Amino acid sequence: MQRTEMSRRDYFKLLGAGACVTASAISVGCGGKGPEAPTPEAGTTQESAEVKADRARRMKWWHEAKFGMFVHWGLYSVLGRHEWAMELEGIPVAEYEQLAKQFVPKPNAARAWARLAKQTGMKYMVMTTKHHEGFCLFDTKYTSYCAPKQACGRDLVREYVDAVRAEGLRVGFYHSLMDWHHPDAARCATDETARQRYIEYLHGQIRELCTNYGKIDVLWYDVAWPLDAKGWESEKMNKMVFELQPDIIVNNRNLLPGDFSTPEQEITPEEGGRAWETCMTMNDSWGYHRADDAWKTPKTIVRNLISCARDGGNYLLNIGPKPDGSIPEESVRTLSTVGKWMEKNGAAIYGTERCRASWHTYLNYTRKGNTLFVHVHFWPGATVAIGGFQTKVKSARLFASGQKVNFEQTDIQTKFTGLPEKAPDDPVTVLAVECEAEPVIDSLLVRKNRKREQV
Ligand code: GLC
Repeated sequence: MQRTEMSRRDYFKLLGAGACVTASAISVGCGGKGPEAPTPEAGTTQESAEVKADRARRMKWWHEAKFGMFVHWGLYSVLGRHEWAMELEGIPVAEYEQLAKQFVPKPNAARAWARLAKQTGMKYMVMTTKHHEGFCLFDTKYTSYCAPKQACGRDLVREYVDAVRAEGLRVGFYHSLMDWHHPDAARCATDETARQRYIEYLHGQIRELCTNYGKIDVLWYDVAWPLDAKGWESEKMNKMVFELQPDIIVNNRNLLPGDFSTPEQEITPEEGGRAWETCMTMNDSWGYHRADDAWKTPKTIVRNLISCARDGGNYLLNIGPKPDGSIPEESVRTLSTVGKWMEKNGAAIYGTERCRASWHTYLNYTRKGNTLFVHVHFWPGATVAIGGFQTKVKSARLFASGQKVNFEQTDIQTKFTGLPEKAPDDPVTVLAVECEAEPVIDSLLVRKNRKREQV
């Protein structure tokens, strides 16, 4: 690994890792569009109307949901040094396996995760059923390297599924194609018999996951090293999944376009109407890392969620529970604050549509029909001014309180006036602005049309 000769971003791309992160990423980061993202095709004209209609049907709830919880949990949680510890520290397989003796979480730990997700305003959850380390949290006939057959003695996926459903949330499964434990999972690149064995193992386990737990809403593949889509038999994989779960949605990380793209640690919208979901950590690690203190603030998280919703995307925000299943205190604190904001302002996020509004330094936007939600994250005082607002405003109010807001509008500038000096809400204050048509804001319009009489 010639790490010094390549950028950090390239290094992690090569590894297929999403471990490259920023502490407070708002549209900045190095995770990219996800390590495995293929050229998007789903949602383009190459598909039949029937395929498109079926996707629209399956994805309706997900587009409305906007906000989900990702959960990374496994033997790496015992180490507490990031989910890539086995590989990055070069821990021998036999030594790593011993962690299965110590991984005995408290029963039904997932209930607290699901409760927190619900309180935070998240609508779905996605949990690692098997991460790259190869340890399975579910009951499988294909290996004894799984929670029910090791010290834990319980099916942790079953507990998770029950907990998520009890809160009325949608159930998602993450599953890693790459496997550092299975003897065939690396040599399958060069040995056809090994490939066939590993495919039987992988497809067999995906079949178990799609058969034994009732209705599953999301299947979230990850890291397709070392094969290509043909080698993984990804077409066959998806076909099986859709036969077993006709309403499910799948991502693009088995090297097929799937239903949605997976930008990682950054907010990079897809073009052409294709669905996308930014997944992001709350600190710099997906799995529990006891020393990682690079926590994002509630404001950063709320702003990220708004940015995703503005451009038609979803935000899948991660927690990395401790080995006993408890959630790191910082995550609980931060998500509770986010939840309080969502309670009052969630309606400005859920079910919103792509918004044609350009950037501003102290606010951002979401949209539902002809209503523009103006999310002010750095409160300017009594007046909030927006240049290049091209649509006629009919009325405005402070969204959380419903209090009417006065406004003045010219071709160039729209001003909301008489507002409190101090931000009425925290961490972001929302104004709801009713417009005559779909709101369009183009800040370039100011540059082009500003009167410059003195020059
Ligand atoms: C990457 C990482 C992994 C994490 C995932 C989440 O692929 O390898 O650790 O699970 O991204 O998107």
